[in-house]
Amino acid sequence: MANIIIFGGSFDPVHNGHLKIALEAYEHLGGKVVFVPSKHPRWKEPTAQAEHRLKMLKIAIKPYSSFFQVDDLEMNATKNPNYTIDTLRIFKERYPNDNLYLLIGEDQVNKFHGWKDPDEIIALAKVIYYGRNDSSHTHVEENVRKYQMEHLEGELSNTSSTDIREMRSVDLPLFVLKYILDHDLYFSKLVHKYYSYERYRHVCSSALTACLIAMMNEDVHIDYYKAFVASYLHDLGKEVKSSVQEEIMMTKFYEFNDIPSYAWHQFVGRYLAMKDFYIDDKDILNAIEYHCTGRANMSLLEKVVYCADKVEPTRDYDTREMLDVCNRNIEEGFLFVLNENKKHIESKKNKGAINRLSEECFAYYLK
Ligand SMILES: [Fe+2]
Ligand SMILES: [Fe+2]
Repeated sequence: MANIIIFGGSFDPVHNGHLKIALEAYEHLGGKVVFVPSKHPRWKEPTAQAEHRLKMLKIAIKPYSSFFQVDDLEMNATKNPNYTIDTLRIFKERYPNDNLYLLIGEDQVNKFHGWKDPDEIIALAKVIYYGRNDSSHTHVEENVRKYQMEHLEGELSNTSSTDIREMRSVDLPLFVLKYILDHDLYFSKLVHKYYSYERYRHVCSSALTACLIAMMNEDVHIDYYKAFVASYLHDLGKEVKSSVQEEIMMTKFYEFNDIPSYAWHQFVGRYLAMKDFYIDDKDILNAIEYHCTGRANMSLLEKVVYCADKVEPTRDYDTREMLDVCNRNIEEGFLFVLNENKKHIESKKNKGAINRLSEECFAYYLK
């Protein structure tokens, strides 16, 4: 007799919080965890199509494939709505001799008495639940007692799918994040509109590179979320008409009116990140503002975004060595990238491209 933990939900998208809960349940009970994404969740309409939610789940559980599985039975169900009891009956037929567990959140415990056939559900599966005591959930105590539910202990994550959909969190596996960008899901649908095809490829690659640098340099704390957002939005100003860029420079960044026009987009990018995406985090905004020129005394995040922009692998020059050094040690990587950039700017072809911010940056870091 094995334990089978059924974990249903819309997974719109799956995130590290879901994986953490599933791992807790697995550690507690053993056996295997089966993720069952719903096609039409009863309580809400999902944002991404079923096909995408399923693929993201499959990507997310890959590292745990010896004890995590995805089952698309609800997505293929012809019944609409397909209730939990319908799913459990199928599981019982498939695994007549195994112990079934149903893993749900405390918000669902609160509504459990309203589910279809709750008594039959608990005859087929033991309900285990996660969540912190939310005082607005007034039926939890009663339902836990009545339906003999068991609380899953363990640290919970604050991550929510809503925060991910609205770009307030990227607490999810890197390959799932890549999938979201590649398929224009959630926030990326909006961001994509600011970029041409080629530029979008570049910013996505920069954003994923910045995340990788943040992950690899674990000895220094680099905020993974900030690295992503700043790199993803860094070129927002690039395709803004030059007359509009000029107007923004004159009205909002007058102190930088001596900076050559090729670098205006970094200031315009900061402006758009604030105006259109409501970014108010100074670290993120500064990283966008100095990604092109650099400056003296840069923050760690500014260095990450500066480097990710120049070493991301879709660039038309060989970035591998610079990328390796950045992943190994961002401070060393930054000096390497800066030096390469200085050589590039000082080459005959780019003689006119130097500006006071870059000069100050080179003087500060490259003695
Ligand atoms: Fe740029
Ligand atoms: Fe760029």
